[in-house]
Amino acid sequence: MKAYIEQNKDRFLEELLELLRIPSVSADLSFKGDVLRAAEFLREKLEEAGADNAQLFQTAGNPIVYADKIIDPALPTVLVYGHYDVQPADPYELWDSPPFEPVIKNENIYARGACDDKGQTYMHVKAFETMMQQQALPCNVKFMIEGEEEVGSVNLATFVKENKERLKADIIVISDTGMLANDVPSVTTGLRGLSYHEVEVTGPNRDLHSGLYGGAVANPINILCKMIASLHDENNHITIPGFYGNVEELSQEERAEMAHAPFNLDAYKQALDLPDVHGEAGYSTMERNSIRPTLDVNGIWGGYTGEGAKTVIPSKAFAKISMRLVPNQTSDEITELFQKHFESIAPPSVKVVVKPHHGGEPVVTPTTSAGYQAAAKAMEDTFGKKPVPVRSGGSIPIVAMFKSVLETDTVLMGFGLDSDAIHSPNEHFGVFNFMKGIETIPLFYQHFAALHTKKD
Ligand code: BES
Ligand code: MN
Ligand code: MN
Repeated sequence: MKAYIEQNKDRFLEELLELLRIPSVSADLSFKGDVLRAAEFLREKLEEAGADNAQLFQTAGNPIVYADKIIDPALPTVLVYGHYDVQPADPYELWDSPPFEPVIKNENIYARGACDDKGQTYMHVKAFETMMQQQALPCNVKFMIEGEEEVGSVNLATFVKENKERLKADIIVISDTGMLANDVPSVTTGLRGLSYHEVEVTGPNRDLHSGLYGGAVANPINILCKMIASLHDENNHITIPGFYGNVEELSQEERAEMAHAPFNLDAYKQALDLPDVHGEAGYSTMERNSIRPTLDVNGIWGGYTGEGAKTVIPSKAFAKISMRLVPNQTSDEITELFQKHFESIAPPSVKVVVKPHHGGEPVVTPTTSAGYQAAAKAMEDTFGKKPVPVRSGGSIPIVAMFKSVLETDTVLMGFGLDSDAIHSPNEHFGVFNFMKGIETIPLFYQHFAALHTKKD
């Protein structure tokens, strides 16, 4: 199998570059045609690789690519999930090469989606091709690749609920997360949830002369900043009443275990040009970005931001505010707490509207499942080291539903690195990581088929 992968390396990379040339940005409707092209590209490649039933399922939004290969109903089934949509590439001027003109430089593939998640999804397509070509597919496989992960997977949620039988599987495998380092393999065992809001603060009914009215009417930007600042206290705890009510506190043993994962604070600061780190008192950096909930402003605007000075009191100020959630917080509960609290802290001189966006539930995946064990063995085979379990700070909104609706465990076997700059300018993915993924995935199938004891 390794020989086949090596021999076809250049073609695998060429095909990935072709996929990366399609700007399938889900957040911006002007890319709709490209989104459809990316879906069709994957459908075709799955079919060429030997999958059956390769088709697009239309939704109220972007289509879902589905394909399968059922070689024997008595064998276990792996369901592969990934996403072909990407984040917007702005700001374009900060890219060293254009985001949708992929280049391979210093053994890295540079393009929007190179790692998140086209590169990682495509590893599964090429691993499947390899197993088919080598007559080495050890179990059944189904693919479900969506086009709305970056905008909350709302339509996929409906699809999952309506297609339980079609999606029936013994394990779900996702490569849409990272590892600690290329020589420190890890398997992700948790994802945070999300509660996302847009807030609007309105003062006077029009922009006003700041000399004539300044000091006498509320400035919505001043007020919004004060409201936002009050959401954390001096220890960087979030001040929303009840916010921590359901937060699962880890035991000292679990925290000590976490602290074993290799982490170098100086290197971390240096990589980000940070004079110092920042976060909730009483927790380490690794804990702050994985097992603790957060509240962040993702964007803030209003008033005059053009050239020169304009003396104005704006009528409105806006912000996008999101919270990352951990077990056992739920997105509905936190959304309600946030909305109530934010409205309650507004002074009577302004009007405040809170508009909730998409949410997502936190998940923790078991390390005892056959899926985790198979992933750990496969990575040990290809990296020569047992991977460490690590809870991640990111979110993949559909994963909680895989458990609650499909009653199936998920394995988060990702091959990216934090330094891959996903969602940022100059996103990239190591050729090493892409190839390692293609090599590891067939071994995962083999170990899973061997470990799995069929339930029914
Ligand atoms: N693949 C990421 C999530 C991720 C990255 C998890 C690295 C763990 C490690 C995913 O595409 C993503 O960006 N998710 C969004 C959520 C979505 C609702 C916009 C996120 O985490 O912000
Ligand atoms: Mn992703
Ligand atoms: Mn993403």
